[in-house]
Amino acid sequence: MIRSEKSPLLTRRHLVSALGATALAARSAAGADGSPFPKGFLWGVATAAYQVEGNNINTDLWVLERLKPSIFQEPSGDACDHYHRYPEDIRLLAGLGFNTYRFSIEWARIEPEQGSFSRAELDHYRRVLAACHEHNVKPMVTFYHFSSPRWFAGAGGWENAESSGWFARYAERASKHLGDMISFATTMNEPNIPMMFRWMTFDMASVAGPLMANAARAIGAQKFGCFFTGDAETLRDRMIAAHHRGFEAMKSAGKFPVGVNLAMTDDQAVGADSGRDRKREELYGPWLRAAAKSDFVGVQAYTRARVGATKDLPPEQGVELTQMGYEFWPEALEQAIRYASAQAKVPVYVTENGIGTIDDTRRIEYIKRALAGVRNCLKDGIDVRGYIHWSLLDNFEWMLGYRPKFGLVAVNRETLERTPKPSARFLGEIARRNAL
Ligand code: BGC
Repeated sequence: MIRSEKSPLLTRRHLVSALGATALAARSAAGADGSPFPKGFLWGVATAAYQVEGNNINTDLWVLERLKPSIFQEPSGDACDHYHRYPEDIRLLAGLGFNTYRFSIEWARIEPEQGSFSRAELDHYRRVLAACHEHNVKPMVTFYHFSSPRWFAGAGGWENAESSGWFARYAERASKHLGDMISFATTMNEPNIPMMFRWMTFDMASVAGPLMANAARAIGAQKFGCFFTGDAETLRDRMIAAHHRGFEAMKSAGKFPVGVNLAMTDDQAVGADSGRDRKREELYGPWLRAAAKSDFVGVQAYTRARVGATKDLPPEQGVELTQMGYEFWPEALEQAIRYASAQAKVPVYVTENGIGTIDDTRRIEYIKRALAGVRNCLKDGIDVRGYIHWSLLDNFEWMLGYRPKFGLVAVNRETLERTPKPSARFLGEIARRNAL
């Protein structure tokens, strides 16, 4: 059962009293271990273009949202209008105490038709990068976060053997235009998700066929290839090729470190016949080997998975669940960092970690426990260089629409007004002090 939760929207009065509580909470955490994090540690917040910008009409997902039936519960529409409100959002996150902003650039804006690049959209992202620098915030830019241009989907998406070349061309073009202002970049966000679906009880393969046929009809194409519904093995091979080619293109055009963000869980073996080790090899093995040849690995962890023989098992009866229906398990982060670091042997940045909840006190508890895990890793000499929280804003949570609330900052769905939650002050204060 999903916890019953209270309203996410805070009045100014709530905020003022919450600020006091937040300062106290930060002090008591400091009592546990107030020693500083390494100098230069990144403290950031993350978003993804499709989830916050609004009106990404040239993407494959915009098409899928409008199909009937659709796997999306609601359309993204204006999202958080971050496309226009980024100056306010970057000012806000800097004011909260963060020194890093991870966001993605939308391929479908930059290359709306195959081979035709928009200088105006590239200039838009230059302005976003300039806003970061103006506030002494380091930008970490993700070049692909789930959404693709329509033309790419119409050509079969990642399943097309030419996809890696198309991605590399886009990555090179964007790096040439933006590279002098980028501090860190990642090629792709969680390219191992299609493989992760296989281990879940949810069966994407059974819905994919008819859905993709409808989508192809909607855009007048023969086929439609989407990241969420493609064949996991083919996608893995094509996307690894695209990662390496994109990496080379980005490095030749800019001087910034480049990594890849991986979806990870704390995988725990249940039963003598648990497939845990096979799962790890399928989900992470090839990607951690790719990360090993990159400058860093981005670890993204939210929960644990209790792994049975061939599938993840459902959460045990009575455990606390988040709005996503999975277990409240902040300890996942520590285990994911340990595994990724041991396998890839490159520096680790936590590029996502967070919780979908409308009870912000649970978010604060989650952050405290997750950061205690980061601290344990550092004590053991693991090279962790940053913690970037998902997410800055309550945003469009893909198929689940706007219901799950991952933001440190609430967004009023009518007015789009931003209101920081107590957790934003809590984590911002830790960031400012560079200590728990
Ligand atoms: C994704 C985000 C998503 C978050 C919360 C990550 O898997 O990168 O786009 O919103 O998890 O579910």
